[in-house]
Amino acid sequence: MTKSQLSLNLGLPDPDPLNKYVLSEFSADAVTDETERINLENKYKKILKITSNQSRRSVSFQLNKNRGVFGWFKYREGFSPDLVEAYLSDMSINQGDLVMDPFMGSGTTALVAAKMGYDSIGFDMLPTSEIAIKAKGGLMDYDLYEIRNMTEWVKHLEVPSSYDGSVNYVKITYSAYPDKTDRELAYLQSLISPNSTEFSDQAINLLMLATLNSLEDLSYTRKDGQYLRWDERSKKVQEADAQRASKGKNPIKNRLNKGDLPDAFQKISEELSIIVADIESAQAVPSEVISSSTHFVNNTVLEELPKVKADSVSAVVTSPPYLNRYDYTRTYALELAFLGYSEADFRRVRQQLLSSTVENKSKRDKLKDYYAQNDMLDKFEYIINKLDNDPVLQEINKAMAIRSEIGDLNNKGVVQMVQGYFEELGFVIAELYRSLKSGAKVVIVNDNVRYGGEVIPVDFISMHLAEVFGFVPDVVQTIEQQKGNSSQQMKKFGRVPLRKSITVWHK
Ligand SMILES: C[S@@+](CC[C@H](N)C(=O)[O-])C[C@H]1O[C@@H](n2cnc3c(N)ncnc32)[C@H](O)[C@@H]1O
Repeated sequence: MTKSQLSLNLGLPDPDPLNKYVLSEFSADAVTDETERINLENKYKKILKITSNQSRRSVSFQLNKNRGVFGWFKYREGFSPDLVEAYLSDMSINQGDLVMDPFMGSGTTALVAAKMGYDSIGFDMLPTSEIAIKAKGGLMDYDLYEIRNMTEWVKHLEVPSSYDGSVNYVKITYSAYPDKTDRELAYLQSLISPNSTEFSDQAINLLMLATLNSLEDLSYTRKDGQYLRWDERSKKVQEADAQRASKGKNPIKNRLNKGDLPDAFQKISEELSIIVADIESAQAVPSEVISSSTHFVNNTVLEELPKVKADSVSAVVTSPPYLNRYDYTRTYALELAFLGYSEADFRRVRQQLLSSTVENKSKRDKLKDYYAQNDMLDKFEYIINKLDNDPVLQEINKAMAIRSEIGDLNNKGVVQMVQGYFEELGFVIAELYRSLKSGAKVVIVNDNVRYGGEVIPVDFISMHLAEVFGFVPDVVQTIEQQKGNSSQQMKKFGRVPLRKSITVWHK
């Protein structure tokens, strides 16, 4: 009897706590080949470290609440400034060096970098990132007198009776606000295009942020995982119910009632007041001056990263979208529609986001065209050949194809999503390698996932791809509390805990 069997038999704790985090089976009922995943698990187990539950909160947005400027944009997908600060402090980088976040989101990395005296660069497809990053970056420059005046101005706005505008909407945001709120929001928006009021563009941008932050509370919707849930008082639910009734069907189930909804101008001025208080306290402490430069581009990383100068970046701290079917254009539908996005804009952004929904199509041809147009076809061929011939990706793609064929995936789009995700991540990693200085580190937060009974160890696969393109692995820090599975997966294939990890590599 081996030592570990003995301790199990005696009910003693497993002598190697890492065993809880490492799998020996990836394919439920051994339906597909799992050799490559097992090899990766054995290889990277040596650099796997468990990190405390406190860090679990730091990989989510929770710690940003009540954190002054870091909480200005309600962005659930953000990680905490503590995480960024901890990793950047641990690296040997100097004032004025360039820190990158290729998936900027609410701009946490950029803001921490600025506080520490580093310049930063990053990208995001969402226009909300641009507004949030601009607003936060100006923390020390706001004219408090102006912002206070603007707050009072919003609070006392009244919509003229002759005004009959309404907020831009797309199908998924139809009837999102009570009529009165819709009219108020549209009226406010009509007043605040840049150069149209007595307020500076910087102040107007802040007002836009406060308005975006208010939309969910003002609406008949609630963000709930991948979708918006709807209030039963909305026309959307009522019209759908009427249609169902005419066909003899029961009313829609998953509805809610949000109770009294706030007044729009009151709510937005309250949001602004919180921001004003943060500006007051930040400006009262001159040592907090943010003086570094932040360069943000509102475009896809797949087009912007290839433009970054070779050997110019000293550190990367980032979290890409997870491979979790999460669609940012649905979660942030109210915000995008408010900013004037049409159905076509929604489709364009959804397709340009890193493939993480079942609606994503392959970006391979577009990437090839882009590299060809920019005289980098050789580079494209180099990257795509590495990816196409990679045994780990071949195993994952084949496993997904088999699970689809035997009906284990509840949506066939998962096959293309998984393939596209790692293909696009591969391009990002290859271009990161080119952009980084020698010795520079990359820190990436990500979650492992499971589809159709197949575990996809995203953390180790990313580490593997990093090695394929030249990086050297440092450590995989995995959060003590692992992720569960969806109820569908549990019922059909049993439970397998999934790692939530921070991987670190260097050039
Ligand atoms: C997990 S979030 C990053 C959150 C960020 N670390 C923070 O603290 O706010 C991932 C971000 O990647 C962005 N994204 C997805 N696909 C992209 C692409 N192709 N190019 C640029 N950004 C993209 C999403 O819009 C989202 O904001």
